[in-house]
Amino acid sequence: MRILVIGSGGREHALLKGLAADPATTELHVVPGNAGMSGLAIVHKDAGAVDDPTAMVALAKQVSADLVVIGPEIPLVAGVADALREAGMRVFGPNRDAAQIEGSKKFAKEVMAAAGVETARAEQLLPESSDSEIDAALERFGPIWVVKDDGLAGGKGVVVTEDRAAAREHVEAVHALGNPVLLESFLDGPEVSLFCLVDGETVVPLLPAQDHKRAFNNDEGPNTGGMGAYTPLPWLPSEGVQQIVDEVCVPVAAEMVRRGTPYSGLLYAGLAWGANGPSVVEFNARFGDPETQAVLALLKTPLATVLDSVASGTLAEQPPLEWSDAYALTVVLAAADYPASPRKGDVITGQVLEDTARVLHAGTAHNEAGELVSAGGRVLNILGVGETLEAARDDAYSTIEEITLAGSFYRTDIALPAVEGKITL
Ligand code: GLY
Repeated sequence: MRILVIGSGGREHALLKGLAADPATTELHVVPGNAGMSGLAIVHKDAGAVDDPTAMVALAKQVSADLVVIGPEIPLVAGVADALREAGMRVFGPNRDAAQIEGSKKFAKEVMAAAGVETARAEQLLPESSDSEIDAALERFGPIWVVKDDGLAGGKGVVVTEDRAAAREHVEAVHALGNPVLLESFLDGPEVSLFCLVDGETVVPLLPAQDHKRAFNNDEGPNTGGMGAYTPLPWLPSEGVQQIVDEVCVPVAAEMVRRGTPYSGLLYAGLAWGANGPSVVEFNARFGDPETQAVLALLKTPLATVLDSVASGTLAEQPPLEWSDAYALTVVLAAADYPASPRKGDVITGQVLEDTARVLHAGTAHNEAGELVSAGGRVLNILGVGETLEAARDDAYSTIEEITLAGSFYRTDIALPAVEGKITL
């Protein structure tokens, strides 16, 4: 099977690694890719914008792709999957209408209300809202305020704060971009990311993971795309995944079918496990980053075959997924000044960079001298695997210490609260 992957981050690097390990894969291509992917795939750096349906269809035809796997949300919301399907290709990723589950928080709330799914109370504030309307809405929420960009923010447009002035500032910043704001009630309880393969009404969960979204240790600092993640979750009740599937993912998949926008691809449920069980914080229409890097490290079932079964509408016929009986963890090495204005162009060194089992690339490139340099906010993802979560942490942190990148930083407490038994339900 010839496979084209669309995207350039650590998530896509993990997908490529998984796809390459499946004997069913005969040829791998990626667009636009990053500096770490050339050992796994043919990299099409200049084949056009990933949200340009015409360019992506042309590339998929040029490489005779049997399957196209779309990583990020932007091409999904731009209708790249629709265009590829119209051109007769098999695609892993939802069509534009179904991707609205991520693209529009308002749409997601409507689907959840119709499906009877627990979620936060929410109100939308349009960019033309007056000062007094914004003040009155802030009065109805918080503290703690949850202020979301109701456009596409790739998990990065959320501010959670006890400071009303900071909440108002974010409302204004999002409105200045021309996007509506969603104010939400704060959901208490530890967060769970559950990824489900969805093919119409067939829902198959992957292992549950937890992301660490704040920039610094102890969940301090600004929200980011995610600074590290681990899987599975030792503190989650044994029936927890099935409960999320039954109460959240199956009803949502059924509602999408009922609306005439059946879902095909990866449905990411971001949840808080509160006193009354799981409640949805958000949905994404794609694999999460960096949770995917940890989750796929434990998947034993051949990945290409599974993703292709979703794309061809035969997921229900697949045998159950098989997993390693272990823990996996990923730590993000971030560039100086991430997330505000990540510095680019710094040289990355370390023997361990050659170890593709441990190091996945996200924001990397080669400079004119051929050196590996930073080219984005989240630069590398370091993987650790072990029989215990503690062993997985040791594995990842001993690797990251061997890498040098001026000004870079990483959290040292990924999975630590779970290891220390500090997460309780
Ligand atoms: N890990 C957060 C996200 O992928 O949106």
